[in-house]
Amino acid sequence: MDKTEQTLKVAIATGLVPAWKGDALIIGVYEGGEAQSALPLCGKKVENEVQKRLTEKWMRGTLGESIAFPTPSGSGLQVSRIVLLGMGKKESLQAETFRALGGHIQALCNKSGIATCHVLLSLDAHHKPKNRRQQIPVLALLAEGAWLGSYRFDHFKSKETKEAKGERDEHPFRQLFLGLHGDRVASERKRLAEVEILARGVALARHLGNQPANLLNPETLARQARQLTERLPTIKTTVYTEKMLASKGMNGILAVGSGSRTPPRLITMEYRRGGDRPLLAVVGKGITFDSGGISLKPGEHMAEMKFDMCGAAAVFGLMQMVAELEWPINVVGIVPAAENMPSSTAQRPGDIIKTAKGIFVEVINTDAEGRLILADALHHAASFKPAALIDLATLTGACAVALGAQASGLMGNNDSLIRQLEKAGEISGDRVWRLPLFAEYQEQIKSVVADIKNTGGREAGAITAACFLSRFVESTQPWAHIDMAGTAYDLNGSRPHVPKGAVGVGVRLLYHFLRAHWM
Ligand code: BES
Ligand code: MN
Ligand code: ZN
Repeated sequence: MDKTEQTLKVAIATGLVPAWKGDALIIGVYEGGEAQSALPLCGKKVENEVQKRLTEKWMRGTLGESIAFPTPSGSGLQVSRIVLLGMGKKESLQAETFRALGGHIQALCNKSGIATCHVLLSLDAHHKPKNRRQQIPVLALLAEGAWLGSYRFDHFKSKETKEAKGERDEHPFRQLFLGLHGDRVASERKRLAEVEILARGVALARHLGNQPANLLNPETLARQARQLTERLPTIKTTVYTEKMLASKGMNGILAVGSGSRTPPRLITMEYRRGGDRPLLAVVGKGITFDSGGISLKPGEHMAEMKFDMCGAAAVFGLMQMVAELEWPINVVGIVPAAENMPSSTAQRPGDIIKTAKGIFVEVINTDAEGRLILADALHHAASFKPAALIDLATLTGACAVALGAQASGLMGNNDSLIRQLEKAGEISGDRVWRLPLFAEYQEQIKSVVADIKNTGGREAGAITAACFLSRFVESTQPWAHIDMAGTAYDLNGSRPHVPKGAVGVGVRLLYHFLRAHWM
């Protein structure tokens, strides 16, 4: 199951372009004829050849577009070919544009059998965030995109199957050199090392997310946590089995897991390297498969419900990342894990369960299972006395309907925590968008026979789910809820740095959140 290692190496190329050796020199070109300010560094001959192709409109320079030609003889360069890569319009450059460019570079090198390449972007290629403190070094963004785009989940396909589909079994691209001219080498290099660890965290989250449910169940997910601890001893893992769950009264988790042959678990991963600094608790929904239970889902998209543990996957990715970065912070990751299946031992619609917090819940629909396991996990999180509590969950189809794949839903009880997450969303590429939690919405989850019920009707489904969660968090506890039902997996593969499948959403978001506010 473990195959998340990165084979791509990234380094900074200083020195003169004629000294660069490799299979290709990739030169960025803007859309709309904007001059590429680094072009003169390649020498007159190459400059002319490039200009000629641009004036003859061999390409327009739209983002990701590319053409290649052999290095002109007598140019003095030692690379075998020149590739012109479109960067899009100069004024629309954003952090995410550079990540996309990195993804394109990786894709084109792997496709064209390029093992080693050098990249020379325009000297004025920058993104302009609203706040200067949000400036991320451009080379680190390119590297991030290349690493993110290099992730593959293809070890269940034979060599023959891949070749028949025009895919490669081995990925030839091994070494990316990023050209840098100026005095920023030390800071760029430091950030590169950090971003490599970030990309590895995203890869772990994707990898867990992509696992089919016959291989990844609550028990094997718990095993993954123990393996994480073996590799990174600064993470302390605790796993509650059914007995422990029962003794803690965690009947939300138990009820959801009761229909499955594989019993539920509650996994906690603690990382404390921050002395007496405040603690962040992150809870991730870990439904390893969501059939809907007795309130069975229709068959059409049911296979996608192996992704219903992507919140948990983000927590794993985050824990690995902070431990590898050795950041001086305190974080606890909490993952309630269960498989939601129909069977004679499964919970039924109409059941009333007592959650660990003591709140009685009427289970109207067994397919609204995420909030039941999160109820107990959020209550458990409070015992760590965190300064902030964030949960990540593929919670509602309603959120996917509202925001689509472009942003996760964000709700919570603390404006400053929300604002910090909104900012982190903007720069990380894991965008979030706030939905309101007006008190009136709470009416929709009133039950006739219990304290609350687990569904709030069709209207405002993402919000009423968050209302339900809010009942399990003290109002004085800063808390934010991220609904990633629409963003957790991407089956279209329309972004070059996000391959089809689990996106690993949440890891980049929390990296920027922690970096900006907890370091
Ligand atoms: N895991 C689903 C939500 C989901 C839907 C995630 C689509 C990803 C893509 C969740 O457990 C669920 O089934 N929610 C129900 C809640 C309803 C019964 C109140 C939903 O959204 O339909
Ligand atoms: Mn469900
Ligand atoms: Zn679910």
